[in-house]
Amino acid sequence: MFAIATLLSLALASSPMMASGLMVKRSGCDISNAKITGFPTSFAAPSLKPSFAAVAIGVQNYTCGSTGTYTNVGAVAELFDISCLYGSSAFDTIQDAAIDIWKIAPPIFPAQEVIAILHSTNTPAVLGQHYYVTNPLTGQGVNPKWDFTSQGANAGNSNAFVVAAKVTGVSAPTGSQDIDWVDLKALTGSLAQEVYRTDTREGQPPASCTPGSPMISVKYAAKYWLYGGSVKQ
Ligand SMILES: *[C@@H]1O[C@H](CO)[C@@H](O)[C@H](O)[C@H]1NC(C)=O
Repeated sequence: MFAIATLLSLALASSPMMASGLMVKRSGCDISNAKITGFPTSFAAPSLKPSFAAVAIGVQNYTCGSTGTYTNVGAVAELFDISCLYGSSAFDTIQDAAIDIWKIAPPIFPAQEVIAILHSTNTPAVLGQHYYVTNPLTGQGVNPKWDFTSQGANAGNSNAFVVAAKVTGVSAPTGSQDIDWVDLKALTGSLAQEVYRTDTREGQPPASCTPGSPMISVKYAAKYWLYGGSVKQ
């Protein structure tokens, strides 16, 4: 069990900056002037400043509809702080390291278990979790949530979350095997007013399915950017 966490932390810590260890901040670096590389022209340009940048590993869940195609029904992921990598080449490629190591985690480990192990070892620097909740405004349907209330600098701050709704999405520039980049606006919570999912790796379901087959979980990695939050980094 610990081998997986070790592999992941090695992959995520493999940048010279992080590997040098001593005195280097692993989390909570100022990224207020950071820019998203390849920011899609169809997204509304951010009017706010980024406060958090994370790399996520997790799963996208899909159910099979009566027409034999998959529909996304949610996701669960662990979020690692990459703010201190900003400006290094490791920042640009961290999602590749993340998906590579995540994919070789043995399939006998349910995603939830691997994430739970990572969560408990808290390496390299867990910011929080991403998962879906019932829409807090309408009580209908589900929306994505980013929850930093139980770890990092905001542990214990019950406002350190955001539940958001998708504004728009675009196909990943890296190819159809990767899930869309998305732009989301906050519904509730103080963690952010705007969220972007970028640099996606994998996470797409098969093109077709047999109606009645069970839900599937597909591994993915991505970056999440949180803009305009009022909680500390
Ligand atoms: C997604 O699937 C995982 C198991 O792979 C499960 O733990 C999680 O609760 C599921 N979440 C949703 C929203 O379907």
